[in-house]
Amino acid sequence: MDVTAIIMAAGEGTRMKSKHAKVSHALLGKPMICWVVDAALDAGCDRVITVIGSHADEVRSILDAAYGERADAHVECVEQTERLGTAHAVRVALEATGVAAGPVVVLNGDLPLIEPATIRTFAQTVDGGAHAAAILTMTPPDPFGYGRIELDEAGSVARIVEQKDCTPEQAAGLLECNAGCYAFDGAQLAAHIGEVGCDNAQGEYYLPDMVEILKAAGQSVTIFHCDDYREGLGVNSRAQLAQLTAIARDRINERLMAEGITFIDPAQAWIGPDATVGRDTVVWPQTHLIGHCTVGEDCQLGPNTRLTDTRVGDRCIVDETVAVEAVLENDVDCGPRAYLRPGTHMLDGSKAGTHVEIKKSTIGRGSKVPHLSYIGDTTMGEGVNIGAGSITCNYDGKNKNATVIGDRTFIGSDTMMVAPVHIGSDAITGAGGTITKDVPDGALAIERTEQRIVEGYTERRRARL
Ligand code: UD1
Ligand code: CA
Repeated sequence: MDVTAIIMAAGEGTRMKSKHAKVSHALLGKPMICWVVDAALDAGCDRVITVIGSHADEVRSILDAAYGERADAHVECVEQTERLGTAHAVRVALEATGVAAGPVVVLNGDLPLIEPATIRTFAQTVDGGAHAAAILTMTPPDPFGYGRIELDEAGSVARIVEQKDCTPEQAAGLLECNAGCYAFDGAQLAAHIGEVGCDNAQGEYYLPDMVEILKAAGQSVTIFHCDDYREGLGVNSRAQLAQLTAIARDRINERLMAEGITFIDPAQAWIGPDATVGRDTVVWPQTHLIGHCTVGEDCQLGPNTRLTDTRVGDRCIVDETVAVEAVLENDVDCGPRAYLRPGTHMLDGSKAGTHVEIKKSTIGRGSKVPHLSYIGDTTMGEGVNIGAGSITCNYDGKNKNATVIGDRTFIGSDTMMVAPVHIGSDAITGAGGTITKDVPDGALAIERTEQRIVEGYTERRRARL
């Protein structure tokens, strides 16, 4: 079954009161539009067409960043320059792409929680010719704002009435809602989309009007009720964004708990949809996993940890740590209060302790950076110990320079390593040294002025004051 997905994301999103496109707002660190695109891709849709318009450049760059380099996920963009309504958005997409056959699933871009399995099953309703269209419906606790399903005497869908076009009786009595997900036979959609008018409360071309139009043309239209109404909720406001974020968080955390992950408090951990966590890992409160994070087994994450696009192996402790595009192999110990920036690679058994910042550096097996240090552009061997307060001075104001430290070397506390510099294996630097010259293997580098003792000084000073 070759399914085309059209995702409508051109709307102004006025109710968000935002300077940004509505679909650019993130749930658990992932832009809303990407939730919908991924659901369509995971459902097996062969062609994914997004309709963009309001803040088109912003949305296009989000899509480029997420899918631009993925050979398995080609996402097309069609621009709807005038936003005349959802039927108009679909018409623009059909005209630009020439789609006029096969099952076509149309999705609101503000429908982030729709499940791929639902889309897959739903698309099948129009495959085989029995129905020209199917509407995904749901019965949320509060139907306000949604288009309502009006049934005919035979119990099949007669039309969809938008909230703003509802009589008070319809608003109070029609509780089944249009989720903003439609399946069409492509030929019927292309043949009739031009017939949608705009004689309604909002003066817009409503896609839901296709129900009446197709039925008048003698076609069958069916509804497909989604048992879990949460999948069908839309985001029109910040309050709904927060509600859906909480639903997404619970859904993910419940799945992870079922897979053998412990949460101290699942309401206080925000794990994105593209993260994986291994068994027997414990997630402490205030933990965020953003983007493509993978965490192994038997780790302790948090409290207060935020990982973005970071890989963590097994048995790691990641306590109060911020890590971005970092890789932690197995048995790594981080924090509390470590900041691991892009390109940090912590090898097995290494440590980044308290108030430690590491950038674009490899910390060798079993090497330790325990306290108050900055390590940048550094390649460190195995079994190295970096004394408290040591810093690689990697920036000369113009260029970033490299530091190399061999195996088993002991860097004394408060050592300034002025890069570019090479410190050999089994070397030692004395505390407080500013190392500007290379240190050979096995050598001691000491750089400090001799200590002076002034006997009886305190007594003389007190007498003066
Ligand atoms: C829409 C449905 C409503 C349904 C609800 C589900 C219509 C007329 N109404 O209402 O029946 O219950 O979704 O959440 O469709 N868009 C465009 N171009 C436009 C207008 C909108 O691309 O010209 C996009 C928006 O970016 C959005 C989607 O279409 O992603 C839906 O538009 P929105 O204004 O949010 O419609 P609702 O009022 O929520
Ligand atoms: Ca909406």
